[in-house]
Amino acid sequence: MPLPKAELHLHIEGTLEPELAFELAARNGVKLPYADTGELRAAYAFQDLQSFLNLYYELMAVLRTERDFEDLANAYLARAAAQGVRHAEIFFDPQAHTARGVDLGTVVEGLWRALGHSEQNHGVSTQLIMCFLRDESAESAMETLEAARPYLDRITGVGLDSAEVGHPPVKFREVYEAAAALGLRRVAHAGEEGPPEYITEALDVLGVERVDHGLRCMEDPALVERLVRERIPLTLCPLSNVRLRAVDTLEAHPLPAMLDAGLLCTVNSDDPAYFGGYAGDNFDAVRASLGLGEERLRELARNSFLASFLEHDEERRAR
Ligand code: HPA
Ligand code: ZN
Repeated sequence: MPLPKAELHLHIEGTLEPELAFELAARNGVKLPYADTGELRAAYAFQDLQSFLNLYYELMAVLRTERDFEDLANAYLARAAAQGVRHAEIFFDPQAHTARGVDLGTVVEGLWRALGHSEQNHGVSTQLIMCFLRDESAESAMETLEAARPYLDRITGVGLDSAEVGHPPVKFREVYEAAAALGLRRVAHAGEEGPPEYITEALDVLGVERVDHGLRCMEDPALVERLVRERIPLTLCPLSNVRLRAVDTLEAHPLPAMLDAGLLCTVNSDDPAYFGGYAGDNFDAVRASLGLGEERLRELARNSFLASFLEHDEERRAR
């Protein structure tokens, strides 16, 4: 039995497996520039975040209808459930779809066709987090937030993803203020490829409650101390870090040092179709390569629920 866990860093578009990509391409008459799934898989050799993002955005061309988004989400939920995921806070990238002429309603309604029945069908509770693409303008992010107003009952929070370096959190100050005023929870990717200063800025300027990745905090001891003191959760993604070369090898991942420092770490899959595994696979990988004992693995699983947006304020305050 896999450990029950929550998944807090998962891009739904990053769960598009090659087989489903070809199935949707055929259904929608979209021509992919790969002969077959083998050729596509061979393209999954990434040098850095940008080389991954290029393929990630390219493959989204196959996602066109509500049914496509429903099928994508159901495929993820089934896989996640089989690996012990009981709760998933799921990112999606509206601008990557609206830019292709797929409207926000199609995306949200399609995802909801799966998420709305996920507890019954998969035993997984879900929340949706709408991410802004940080390499697009702040105006585009604000327009996206405006366009999401009719769907806010289905959206728990906002996030920030895509190419990090050169796009500091401060660029999105106003849109995060507006999101907070709408009652949305706030997270942001920071310190994956970008410097530790981006983590500090995400906390101070965007008011995030949780940091996605946050790996590079380890370069700044004062920041580590603050993250520990304020119990700010970090959503780490070990297999992603290896594939995108944020770390040299899995064995060199700083997760054990981060736990030893007292950081509230969680383990997640990021873009599992591209990075070699789902949540349970990431747990298995850190167990095998980092020598984490059962107690540490249980701590990671417990952290995932503590760091989630499920109601548990009292529990968290008591720690
Ligand atoms: N980092 C930033 N943006 C992303 C990622 C990631 O790992 N996955 C999908 N969008
Ligand atoms: Zn991510």
